[in-house]
Amino acid sequence: MARLLVTGGAGFIGSNFVHHVINHTDHHVTVLDKLTYAGNRASLVGLPQSRLTFIEGDVADSLSTDDLVADADAVVHFAAESHNDNSLNDPSPFLQTNIVGSFALLEAARRHRTRFHHVSTDEVYGDLALEDPMRFTESTPYNPSSPYSSTKAASDLLVRAWVRSFGVAATISNCSNNYGPYQHVEKFIPRQITNVLRGIRPKLYGEGRNVRDWIHADDHSAAVLMILEKGRLGDTYLIGADGEKDNKSVVELILHLMGQPADAYDHVKDRVGHDLRYAIDSSKLRDELGWQPIYRDFESGLAATIDWYRNHEDWWSPSKHATEALYAQYGQ
Ligand code: NAD
Ligand code: DAU
Repeated sequence: MARLLVTGGAGFIGSNFVHHVINHTDHHVTVLDKLTYAGNRASLVGLPQSRLTFIEGDVADSLSTDDLVADADAVVHFAAESHNDNSLNDPSPFLQTNIVGSFALLEAARRHRTRFHHVSTDEVYGDLALEDPMRFTESTPYNPSSPYSSTKAASDLLVRAWVRSFGVAATISNCSNNYGPYQHVEKFIPRQITNVLRGIRPKLYGEGRNVRDWIHADDHSAAVLMILEKGRLGDTYLIGADGEKDNKSVVELILHLMGQPADAYDHVKDRVGHDLRYAIDSSKLRDELGWQPIYRDFESGLAATIDWYRNHEDWWSPSKHATEALYAQYGQ
């Protein structure tokens, strides 16, 4: 049995990962989470107390995180400011958490020789043209567009430097867009589902031609666990499930699955610097480690996600009003 320190374990993917680890292994999990607007302890309710310890704290606070890293066999680092739109309006917390926070954890991992897995994003590679047959691979040059993605790129580069210069036993994964339960209502898919549930029209940025490569959060969790257990130290693995869809098609599918007319949405102001298309080639992860996605049919995964939001209004309702008030300020 191993002791995992999971940062950001009260967030969307972090909490899905904690559920996955507790359901599929004997590991003990300690969650370190600042409980920002994006963190929610309710996402961890129902898990056995004997397997889970929750610590409220900031990854950038090196004094308090040092002991936690010392006590862990491995750190899985999810904690981040994660939303592009917020980063365009106030980049400062993104630099603090994503760069300074990752630095503090890496220093602790170096001191205590703790195995480290860094959870990152495909957005570090910038974007691809809509008609381009290319997909991102592990050797695609970094070219981030937003304050969010540039801070994630910075943290990836810190990890690489700490591997090479200090011998930290680290791996990195860069994943595409996740969907599934426990995702904050600021994000594209839950925003539109909860809008329909509240009688608000879904909001599509610009023309909605931008493409995202969707993967279910549980497939992401399984991949991270596999890389933690079997990944080659110092290596990067791309995670994706061949789920490219343009935003307009996703909104239309949500409307269809929720029994609404296909055109019952609004076009709103486009995102500044909006990345056109992301697409992942995950051959390395599949060929070297044997990972395969379980959720291969986006429509049925989306239908299950819609059901989850329909049945968990108590989970998302407290954040809905403030989120839409912020979008109204952004004009979106
Ligand atoms: P999220 O915003 O839902 O959750 C982030 C969590 O981190 C929250 O619980 C928050 O309270 C916590 N946190 C924020 N600042 C902290 C700090 N200073 N100290 C401790 N905890 C802090 O994010 P998410 O969508 O679950 O993303 C998790 C990770 O996965 C991020 O590193 C993100 O870059 C990466 N990622 C996300 C996606 C996606 O589609 N959402 C895709 C690829 C990679
Ligand atoms: O690719 C991985 C990244 O995916 C992660 O690193 C980020 O943490 C995660 O937030 C996500 O980034 P995106 O910016 O792609 O996700 P978001 O849900 O914000 O938007 C998805 C797409 O939908 C994007 O093209 C913008 C568009 N959009 C978004 C919202 C909130 C809309 O059209 N309408 C909306 O209301």
